[in-house]
Amino acid sequence: MRQEVDDIHRQGGTIAFVPTMGFFHEGHLALMREGRKRADNLIVSIFVNPTQFGPSEDFKSYPRDLDRDIAMAHSVGVDCVFTPAADAMYEEGHQTYVDLTGLPNHLCGLSRPGHFRGVATVVAKLFHIVKPQVALFGEKDYQQLVIVRRMAQDLNMDITIVGVPIVREPDGLAMSSRNTYLTPEQRRSALALYESLKLARERVARGITDATSIIEEVTAFIGSHAQTKTDYVAVVDPQTLEAVDRIDSPSLLAVAVWVGKTRLIDNTILSP
Ligand code: PAF
Repeated sequence: MRQEVDDIHRQGGTIAFVPTMGFFHEGHLALMREGRKRADNLIVSIFVNPTQFGPSEDFKSYPRDLDRDIAMAHSVGVDCVFTPAADAMYEEGHQTYVDLTGLPNHLCGLSRPGHFRGVATVVAKLFHIVKPQVALFGEKDYQQLVIVRRMAQDLNMDITIVGVPIVREPDGLAMSSRNTYLTPEQRRSALALYESLKLARERVARGITDATSIIEEVTAFIGSHAQTKTDYVAVVDPQTLEAVDRIDSPSLLAVAVWVGKTRLIDNTILSP
């Protein structure tokens, strides 16, 4: 990978980079299509990163299909797919991590301790290997996007971080590799996430600005669907991720919900 990157740079080429954990869907392809427009070379990594999974999470069962992924990447003009092995990314004796002190203490960071440390670490490592000018991340993982932006700024990485809007199924469910875990009944319940965001947007459009009442209504709506258990419903500042009481400027509504054994997330901006 280093040789490939050095060759590109020697020829004065630019690199757009999409880091992924594979098992591609239209959301990943949207990142790649956007990357294609932003540089001469498009590199995608596929690496199911062990350090961002908790001990009781789905690292082992995370869906994988490398042949299919490579064919899909090829179909949208990816030049190079980087698939490092776990022991190449984390050699014996590895002990350096990237930790942010504030942004992970909200939303998903509270129920997934260590998750963003693993994400920031692997993204920093991948950036050092791939040396891109531009890197693209999906807005579905909104907290991840904010954390990567902060890290790039704090560590003086000369990389433009681009957020790409959420891609949804025709009925509104946000695309996720984990949707594949859902049974037909759970798939119906999973739509509650998107429907709840629409409900909140309607309320705000009608002039409700009290975050607590929006959170209560969204939580009750999701809870009325079979096999759901809400992890969090939060209204936060889109930059700092601190909770807001009043939606008097654009605010992020973020939800995380267990549907059966699958944890799904979604979000939207609420604009008064
Ligand atoms: O969003 C993901 O798929 C992962 O968190 C990432 C950014 C590839 C890091 O492992």
